[in-house]
Amino acid sequence: MKVALVYASTTGNTEAMAKAICEALKASGADVLCSTAADADKAAVTACDVILLGSPAMGAEELEESVESFYTGIEGSLGGKKVGIFGSYDWGDGQWLRDWKDRLSGAGAVVASEPLMVHLEPGDAEIEQCKAWAASAIK
Ligand SMILES: Cc1cc2nc3c(=O)[nH]c(=O)nc-3n(C[C@H](O)[C@H](O)[C@H](O)COP(=O)(O)O)c2cc1C
Repeated sequence: MKVALVYASTTGNTEAMAKAICEALKASGADVLCSTAADADKAAVTACDVILLGSPAMGAEELEESVESFYTGIEGSLGGKKVGIFGSYDWGDGQWLRDWKDRLSGAGAVVASEPLMVHLEPGDAEIEQCKAWAASAIK
């Protein structure tokens, strides 16, 4: 199975989640394309069986800029695709992920696993949560 993992991170928190997810995917035998949103190839990503996207909550419950730009570019190609979303936040209650999930549904994507959010930097327990999330996203 081909899985794309595309993320952005301003201080490393979402990146730590992405690394744990990537590790778990590889350990399960998936063929993983892992990239930052700034460097990601839209065609290669949308050709994958499962797409996992990570963004911290930024602005006022918004996606990080490069993720917003990348996501807008692939949004029209997500019909029927399995897509999972994750990211780190601080003071909010997850509104940015709920809004993103609504956009995914609007684009006709199949939500691969319930959105995963971690408060600030993931600790050991949250890293394990990320790995379990990765496994359920590719089921
Ligand atoms: C400019 C800016 C805007 C932010 N906006 C939000 C927000 O709307 N809601 C929230 O819960 N956290 C917000 N945060 C906190 C970040 O989401 C949090 O620090 C997160 O851990 C950053 O993850 P990263 O290291 O992957 O970038 C904001 C942080 C910054 C610097």
